[in-house]
Amino acid sequence: MAKTKKSDDNLMEKLVSLCKRRGFIFQSSEIYGGLNSFYDYGPLGVELKNNIKRLWWQEMVQRRDDVVGLDAAILMHSKTWEASGHLKSFTDPLVDCKKCKRRFRADHILVPTSAKPDLGTMKEKPKKMPTCPECGGELTAARQFNLMFKTFMGPVEDEGATVYLRPETAQGIFVNFKNVKDSMRLKLPFGIAQIGKSFRNEITPGNFIFRTREFEQMELEYFCEPKEAKKYYEYWLKNRFDWYVKALGIKKENLRRRSHTKDELAHYAAACSDVEYNFPFSDWSELEGIANRQDFDLKQHSKFSGQELDYTDEAGKKFIPYVIEPSAGVDRTLLTVLVDAYTEIEGGRTTTTESTKDLEVVMRFDKKVAPIKIAVLPLAKKENLTKAAKEIYDQLRQNWSCDYDAVSSIGRRYRRQDEIGTPYCVTIDFDSLEDKAVTVRDRDTMKQERIKIGEMGDYFAEKLK
Ligand code: GAP
Repeated sequence: MAKTKKSDDNLMEKLVSLCKRRGFIFQSSEIYGGLNSFYDYGPLGVELKNNIKRLWWQEMVQRRDDVVGLDAAILMHSKTWEASGHLKSFTDPLVDCKKCKRRFRADHILVPTSAKPDLGTMKEKPKKMPTCPECGGELTAARQFNLMFKTFMGPVEDEGATVYLRPETAQGIFVNFKNVKDSMRLKLPFGIAQIGKSFRNEITPGNFIFRTREFEQMELEYFCEPKEAKKYYEYWLKNRFDWYVKALGIKKENLRRRSHTKDELAHYAAACSDVEYNFPFSDWSELEGIANRQDFDLKQHSKFSGQELDYTDEAGKKFIPYVIEPSAGVDRTLLTVLVDAYTEIEGGRTTTTESTKDLEVVMRFDKKVAPIKIAVLPLAKKENLTKAAKEIYDQLRQNWSCDYDAVSSIGRRYRRQDEIGTPYCVTIDFDSLEDKAVTVRDRDTMKQERIKIGEMGDYFAEKLK
């Protein structure tokens, strides 16, 4: 029986290995033994990541009249985090093993009751303490651990110089609410969108790039009249779910929406739902959260800064807008794209003996996200062929990210392109020199078409539009 992604225990291992072998993702500082839970994106990984971010920006900013962009600094005034509640409440419950000294998130090992064992609320010691999952040793009682990374600004390392690496990009938007509203003369409802790095000193990071200590977020704060908050909450819930299917080509059956229960809600939220993906290493897990943050943040920043952060409507009425926040993780989305695209073909698809393998891997990326769109492959390493192929490569890469590969057999080169998810391969053979045409091979159907070199631009513009 064919293995499904859920039943393949080694799927994550295979994916991590492919990511390293093919230049998608590397362990950070690997030559020094690696830095736990930090990752570097290689040449293909950065293309994939940029495509995801570009598709999000197109959908959320470029194609909308009511949303503008922002790129705020990572380090912010420390009062930001007092006002937002992060200094007090952005904590997870931590337990130590008295024997092996390992640390665990209490809600991960004590009470895995909800489908989303996140942002723990486990404050009390349960009646029967479990033992250390690693060595069976006795565990301490849970204590709250703040997830924000601290550093110092300037030469003096004292309390007054403490600054925090932002744990969410959202606060950069809230503190700029007035600047953006006034400079762009915005009228409600309107949104401010941002993509940027966030940092959380997670107690138990893991599952590759699913939960890391440095990651990127794509966040929108959509401000509206309080009475319209419910309507826009529903609107964004649908919009964001659909984006994963339409823009990224994620299979609908692997996605679902889930509303938070009251005890799961963050301190600022009146309602929250997650878009979840059916990851191989867990049951459904959060990909993106859509929250009704009400007027919590603007009110808090107004109180702590002494600035007016309200909005005056056409009738002259002043009020603090409510905000709906769709907040997605770039890295988690990228992991979803990888998992969803990964396809194994037992026995292989190739008939040529040289490249026949027991198992072939094809990354069936949606064309819009594929890191390389077209590979240009001269059939043989003969000068007249490579010269013609290079000319075609130079022409195509003016518009699309392309790869040029003249090394090893054509079968092997097709396999490699399948493994990195390149939708089209263009092969230049000896006939090409005569008939001025090339063979275009489709990654998924393996169908080959003969296309005139002069018509390739229009052909790919249509195929990759
Ligand atoms: N501003 C709201 C906020 O930050 P969140 O649910 O804590 O909400 C939003 O985070 C998204 O950021 C998550 O859905 C996830 O995709 C991503 N994310 C959060 N923590 C992460 C981590 N440690 N590693 C990778 N991605 C993370």
